[in-house]
Amino acid sequence: MKTYGRLPFGLARGEGCWVWDTAGRKYLDGLAGIAVNTLGHAHPKLVPALQEQVGRLIHSSNYYRVPLQEQLAARLVELSGLTNAFFCSTGLEANEAAIKIARKYGHDRGVERPEIVVYEKAFHGRSIATLSATGNPKIQAGFEPLVEGFVRVPLNDVAAVEEVARTHPDVVAVFLEVIQGEGGINLATIDYLRTVRRLCDERGWLLMLDEVQCGMGRTGKWFAHQWAGIKPDVMPLAKGLGSGVPVGAVVCGPKAAGVFGPGNHGTTFGGNPLAMRAGVETLRIMEEENLLDNAARVGAALKAGLAREFEGLDGVVEIRGQGLMLGIELDRPCGELLGRAAEAGLLLSVTADRVIRLVPPLTLSEDEAAQIVAILAPLVKDFLAGTAPPAVVAPLPKAPGQQPE
Ligand SMILES: Cc1ncc(COP(=O)(O)O)c(C=O)c1O
Repeated sequence: MKTYGRLPFGLARGEGCWVWDTAGRKYLDGLAGIAVNTLGHAHPKLVPALQEQVGRLIHSSNYYRVPLQEQLAARLVELSGLTNAFFCSTGLEANEAAIKIARKYGHDRGVERPEIVVYEKAFHGRSIATLSATGNPKIQAGFEPLVEGFVRVPLNDVAAVEEVARTHPDVVAVFLEVIQGEGGINLATIDYLRTVRRLCDERGWLLMLDEVQCGMGRTGKWFAHQWAGIKPDVMPLAKGLGSGVPVGAVVCGPKAAGVFGPGNHGTTFGGNPLAMRAGVETLRIMEEENLLDNAARVGAALKAGLAREFEGLDGVVEIRGQGLMLGIELDRPCGELLGRAAEAGLLLSVTADRVIRLVPPLTLSEDEAAQIVAILAPLVKDFLAGTAPPAVVAPLPKAPGQQPE
């Protein structure tokens, strides 16, 4: 089906932060399969572990105990300070489970028509429920009627969420990305996260933080919310968790962990031994190789390099992000940079029409970060010189820098 607008080449193999297409052309991977290949490609410790697991047991069933599931859950609980995990295979499934948890949490408390606070510019997936929670009319168009039960507010607007608290007695949860990825690398501020945590405590709401894209070490902590010193009640994960093998998870704290009972939720592939081994090994290797520190250090170097090239340049609105989740906002749509960058040997993406997104593997070196800047700088400058600035720049919502650098 014609679901994707694809570039005219296919990737055949990868090594570290580099990939080669079927014609043998080499690219520096600034995208990591959209924040997925945490360990880069063909990591020498991950490959033999997965090969060994394939030869041992790929899939069993949730009819039985899955020891590797217990191992990965224990690790996620330890890293997050939460208590329990449910496993699935993708980000939208993790979010779908979170939405179900919120609704059942409400019903268990006698709320017949529970509502969930969601955000402008949010992205939570493309199932009917998760696209209804998503704050992008382009993604929703053509799929109406949308799922009801969502109340939408702008990010970082305390008054808006307090107003919802006053006017919507059936709210049971707040659901947000700590850094909006598809929405243009928009950061929830530390103050905002703390305020929403407090509001959730006061009101008995669940705080549900979608860390599908910004989690798993990408910002320099295991989970992006940890910069704010808070804990969520529900945390959907996916993307980087399996370093390329499809794994999703919903990690819950005590307020939410007991909401599902047997029969309330499930999925055939969720938590299968191959996926769980990928998760266990990804976390182990991340720790062994200090990839959180690497993400923070190389991310800061990359951001500084981008700032040196672009700050003050007409047409560049802002460079923002944390660790190895960075966005360069231009004043005009720049989707064509995807193809131009690939021609120059760099993989990246453009979100929210005019934000160049860099989410490379967490193994990126400072030298590779410098190479990203060296390839990207002339491309962006040429692009800006060759295209007209818009008559009026429609501002994206601004999120002041969230975390200490
Ligand atoms: C924050 C966030 N949540 C959910 C999803 C959906 O994940 P998936 O594509 O694995 O369904 C994405 C995907 O980009 C995402 O960025």
